[in-house]
Amino acid sequence: MTARAVILLGAGNQGRVALDLLRDADVAVLGFLDDTKAEGARIDGVPVLGPFAQALASDWRARARFLLAFGSPSERESWGEALRRSGATLFSLVHPTARVARTATLGEGVFLSAYSVVFPNATVGDFTMINNHCSIGHDCRIGVANLFGPGVHLAGNVTTGARCAFGAGSVVQPCRTLGRDVRVAGGALVHESVGDRVTLVGNPARRVLEAGSPGDAAADRAP
Ligand SMILES: CC(C)(COP(=O)(O)OP(=O)(O)OC[C@H]1O[C@@H](n2cnc3c(N)ncnc32)[C@H](O)[C@@H]1OP(=O)(O)O)[C@@H](O)C(=O)NCCC(=O)NCCS
Repeated sequence: MTARAVILLGAGNQGRVALDLLRDADVAVLGFLDDTKAEGARIDGVPVLGPFAQALASDWRARARFLLAFGSPSERESWGEALRRSGATLFSLVHPTARVARTATLGEGVFLSAYSVVFPNATVGDFTMINNHCSIGHDCRIGVANLFGPGVHLAGNVTTGARCAFGAGSVVQPCRTLGRDVRVAGGALVHESVGDRVTLVGNPARRVLEAGSPGDAAADRAP
């Protein structure tokens, strides 16, 4: 049986990157859903089929699989949950150059980009996006809907809560635990465990913006 084609949620920069990665993997793409692009517009040769809500309303649920192709952790979580509740099939993208250890476990609706590695016995939570050239060390436990920018490295045995976001080139030392909605700045070196909703910047990382620091922007498109 031919595998069902994929519909990309999000036609922004991540959507265009996702399309390119899917082409590497020979996965057929039906189109994009996006609230900010006109229906019928073409992006890198692929049509915009309508707004995000079409994912829940249309009969595409029976004909296609859906890839979360945007970066906001809270929106990835809410859209992933909504699609799952609706009976839709979430597609996990694992680029052909990525490597997942035999004993590692990837959740549902995960995005694993080029040249990234998930080491033995690590678990990656549902809806997590791992951009290019990242490493998730052995025995790491990654929560739901985490976002890894390019070139993030988690050493072994790191645990993260839901919706953490790691800026490009950040590093976490072994055996640290981060709570929910933690934001790590690009280039930061995280050397201590922290609780929920903390923003960490610099090397060594220091906490900033602790009062009222959101995990990420409000979920405009969340259902
Ligand atoms: C950490 C981050 C989320 C904070 O963003 P923000 O809420 O808009 O906060 P601000 O830019 O006002 O920065 C707050 C403080 O942290 C400092 N800061 C921000 N980013 C920093 C960095 N990468 N390294 C060192 N310090 C940094 C700012 O100078 C500021 O310091 P101050 O309070 O002493 O003036 C953001 O800077 C960041 O690094 N995002 C990751 C981007 C990325 O790599 N995305 C890839 C996704 S694919």
